[in-house]
Amino acid sequence: MELKTEVEKIIREFDSQALAAETVDALNAVRIRYLGKSGELTLILKGMRDLQPEERAAAGKIVNAARVRLEDCITESERRLQRLALDARLKTEVIDISIPSKKLPRGAVHPQTLVRNQIIEIFTGMGFTVEDGREVETDYYNFEALNLPPDHPARETQDTFYITENILLRTQTSTTQIRAMEKQQPPIKMINPGRVYRSDEIDATHSPMFHQVEGLVVDKNITMCDLKGVLDAFAKRFFGSDTKTRLRPSHFPFTEPSIEVDATCSQCGGAGCRVCKGTGWLEILGAGMVNIKVLSNCGIDPKIYSGFAFGLGLDRMTNIKYGITDLRVVFENDIRFLKQFR
Ligand code: DAH
Repeated sequence: MELKTEVEKIIREFDSQALAAETVDALNAVRIRYLGKSGELTLILKGMRDLQPEERAAAGKIVNAARVRLEDCITESERRLQRLALDARLKTEVIDISIPSKKLPRGAVHPQTLVRNQIIEIFTGMGFTVEDGREVETDYYNFEALNLPPDHPARETQDTFYITENILLRTQTSTTQIRAMEKQQPPIKMINPGRVYRSDEIDATHSPMFHQVEGLVVDKNITMCDLKGVLDAFAKRFFGSDTKTRLRPSHFPFTEPSIEVDATCSQCGGAGCRVCKGTGWLEILGAGMVNIKVLSNCGIDPKIYSGFAFGLGLDRMTNIKYGITDLRVVFENDIRFLKQFR
């Protein structure tokens, strides 16, 4: 058979087979049959070695043109089949938006978060800013600047996690008082809610990590009356407008004078119950007038400015507010406990 006729026959057969291929695999089989190592067209190409040089050029043209033609056809068919496969897949993957969805379990805002948010709302309502602090601190910010030099006995009441001799996990949010005063001159009116750490065994009233809210006001003419007014207003907003507060003398190295603030028991309204151990009062926080040594440490002139500070236990406030008697449930995050705060 003449070469040209033979090649035309191959093309015709190839075309009908390529067209009939319904999958990429079937098409590949056709490609191998004609263009593979021992494919029909490949064999003809190989056979050209035996031709006379003068015949070879003309024959080469015919066979090579056929090869290009076949390869183009394969590429084109491949695209067509891929398109078809995609169309088919998209048809079966249609999303039925009428199928009812699976119900995901719903969480709740943690009671601690509720209480923190409420405290923030009350103080920002009185013009306080909310500052952030560092949980990893130096000895200076946690103790020294707060008038607790290395040999101060009060250091022992705060069992500290030391990272190095000089770096520690803060035991109190009072650290942020120092940072706030270093950063800006008065007027300062800020709170700082945050985590604090002490090396305590876990029990119903202790946890090695707990939460405090620190407060600091520094300006000209700040007196104990301002402290009393702000904290009384806070207690009334937090526990209810019938709440009364009282101040008891206390001691903190960073305040002078120092006090503790009690509020009438929110469970019994002051009559005396199990929660307040019959006294009618609950201690809610420590406070005082900022020690002039602390003001001076931060570059604030105590002849011009004065201030008050307070620190409250967020966990304690949460427990009082919701009648929680075991601190551990607050940290365990059992969904059955949390669900009650929806
Ligand atoms: N830092 C104290 C503590 O952890 C709480 C405290 C008391 C903070 C009196 C104050 C303050 O700012 O004035 O026990």
